[in-house]
Amino acid sequence: MKLYESLAEELCRRIEQGYYQVGDKLPSLRKMSHENQVSIATVQEAYHLLEDRYLVESRPKSGYYILAKKSDASLPATTRPEQKPVDVARWELVLNLLHSHERDEILALGKGTPDVSLPTLKPLLKLTADMSRRADIGQLTYDSLQGCQELRHQIARLMVDSGCRLHPDDIIVTTGCQEALTCSMRVLTQPGDIVASESPTYYGSMQTVQALGLKMLEIPTNPETGISLDALELALEQWPIKVLQVTPSCNNPTGHTMPDANKKRLVEMANEYDIAIIEDDIYGDLAYRYPRSRSIKSYDTQGRVLFCSSFSKTLSPAFRTGWCAPGRYIQQVKHMKYVSTACNSILHPRAIAEFIAQGLYERHIRKCRTQYLRNRDRLMEWVQAYFPKGTKMSYPEGGFLLWVEFPKTIDALGLNEKLKQEKISIAPGILFTAAEKYQHCVRLSYSHEATPAIEKAIKKIGTIAKAC
Ligand SMILES: Cc1ncc(COP(=O)(O)O)c(C=O)c1O
Repeated sequence: MKLYESLAEELCRRIEQGYYQVGDKLPSLRKMSHENQVSIATVQEAYHLLEDRYLVESRPKSGYYILAKKSDASLPATTRPEQKPVDVARWELVLNLLHSHERDEILALGKGTPDVSLPTLKPLLKLTADMSRRADIGQLTYDSLQGCQELRHQIARLMVDSGCRLHPDDIIVTTGCQEALTCSMRVLTQPGDIVASESPTYYGSMQTVQALGLKMLEIPTNPETGISLDALELALEQWPIKVLQVTPSCNNPTGHTMPDANKKRLVEMANEYDIAIIEDDIYGDLAYRYPRSRSIKSYDTQGRVLFCSSFSKTLSPAFRTGWCAPGRYIQQVKHMKYVSTACNSILHPRAIAEFIAQGLYERHIRKCRTQYLRNRDRLMEWVQAYFPKGTKMSYPEGGFLLWVEFPKTIDALGLNEKLKQEKISIAPGILFTAAEKYQHCVRLSYSHEATPAIEKAIKKIGTIAKAC
């Protein structure tokens, strides 16, 4: 065994024995090298080994931190959704969820909003205010249909991180990601068509499927590697699928990221079966590992991937600024954008473009990643400590959402009802499917600082769930 390997083994032992706890910082390279009488390079190799085993995380300019353990025993199994296309319903449930989030007195632990109180976001408010003050009468007009040129330029730069080389003219600015998804779906489908997707999946895109009179075919999905390619291939053989809709990087609701090899294979399958892919990348930049993983679009050579995203999770949903890079469908999506909202407001896209140009977006994202990773570990610890025995959970690799699978006897809708009295709300699992599935699952959000009040709420959820 090499020197760095035996040092890594020793550190693994210390982590297992609880000498280092989740969230603790490992000694600096210099200190560890001094204590163990080995070179700094040896310590660095040992730390890299621990990183590869997901035991520690390197945080830029800060050091190495102990991560929550990923235990196969606590991961949910690959899902087994309905094996045929079904109609989507659930609008009443979605509406209820949205209403519960609007009530200030409720601690909305199922809500998918980022932490907008971070200091790194403040310069964006200042930029917006300054631009508003400096705005002249000439700016009180319609923006171009495709949207703010400066922002499209900055988005094309950001997308290089996910392996995409796009021109600003390949991008359309939209009113959030929801508009990008809906315009894409409208271009690609006719009523009655079948859309395949991961399962569980984001309820907002399912509502688009419902509103356009489409049918949904949910494909088995693994909480670590995403949509099952074998199951998808079988479905493609069996059904005339028009579109595949996926959120492959830092997925909502599970937080998984598909391995790059699977993303590449997915594009090959789309080419083979001649289908389009709508790729929702709204959480992609919030991956805890840097560089972030590649997008599906980065493997697309035929223009059949419509990439949709927004700044709603990385900055704030209040700006309602998103985008679509629709490949070969750009003219049709532009038409749908015109039919939908004609154009965007001018101020926010310009302020966001300036924020990115000044390097403030990267700084803010770094801060988010660090906070969300820390919060994830705390939340996972609390779920493990307070939720009923047999509870399983996903292992998010980015974003701020955790998928929790209670033992089958627990009904998440009933649990949510009981939690109302405690002024807590969660997102019941049934929202994330078109079929009668995931009744014992919930989605929890951890964007906000892991305070004692949140720990108390998680404990309360656990206590009530145990009594269900
Ligand atoms: C996966 C996913 N896609 C799209 C959206 C909608 O994004 P926006 O608020 O930018 O319209 C959300 C919002 O929750 C989401 O979670």
